[in-house]
Amino acid sequence: MPEQDYRLNDAEVMDFVVKGYLVLKPEFPEGFNEYCYEECARATADSNPGDSILELVPKLHDVWGHPMVRGALVSLVGEDFQMSGHRHCHVNPPGTRSQGWHQDGTNQRHHKVRTVLGFYYPQDTSADLGPTMIVPGTHFRNCPTDRMATYAHFRDQVALTCEAGTVAITHYDIWHGASRNQGDRVRYMLKFLFSRQGDPAAPSWRHDPEAAAEHAHILAARSAACGQSDHYKERGLRREMWNHLLGAGAA
Ligand SMILES: [Fe+2]
Repeated sequence: MPEQDYRLNDAEVMDFVVKGYLVLKPEFPEGFNEYCYEECARATADSNPGDSILELVPKLHDVWGHPMVRGALVSLVGEDFQMSGHRHCHVNPPGTRSQGWHQDGTNQRHHKVRTVLGFYYPQDTSADLGPTMIVPGTHFRNCPTDRMATYAHFRDQVALTCEAGTVAITHYDIWHGASRNQGDRVRYMLKFLFSRQGDPAAPSWRHDPEAAAEHAHILAARSAACGQSDHYKERGLRREMWNHLLGAGAA
């Protein structure tokens, strides 16, 4: 039997373009997530090892090597994407306050998918355990962190509550932040970065021009609360991002 093709389809890529994130639920072997949870606890017990978390918990390679996760990454940042040397195990213990809203991206002016963030949650993450909060569609909106830091909640914000083993992939520029942990155990989130090596020359997902035409309405739909003129602008930016992914403009 041929190996299952886990690359995204057109509707899924369009959905990512519009919202700036997608959520995957890969199946890991029995005990895998519990093992990663315990290893992250051990690795961060004295101090946070920063980028060395992958050397200390090498099993984390299996998260990003899972065919479903790899298929999504290939779809969004190309077959030859690279994992950045920067990664972080975010530790959110009980009793924390919310992290301020911010963008990890460097506010470069472009409407491409150059870098994505991968978030892996080794534990069930309920609403009271400090899930990551994101605002769909904000990867199109540059915003200085000191301006958004005074906001507590945004209309249409999404809490990434999830089961253990869930992987979320977001655009580098999406507005996000950890929420406060009101639970009784530590919440870990492993953040990794993946970047494309060049502009796309052709689609790297399961592209089918007919299916893409059928689903084109996804790119035009209103996703999060915004004014009418912002919505018009955003539609243009989505189209720019989609065309770039298709390889339009490639020599
Ligand atoms: Fe962040």
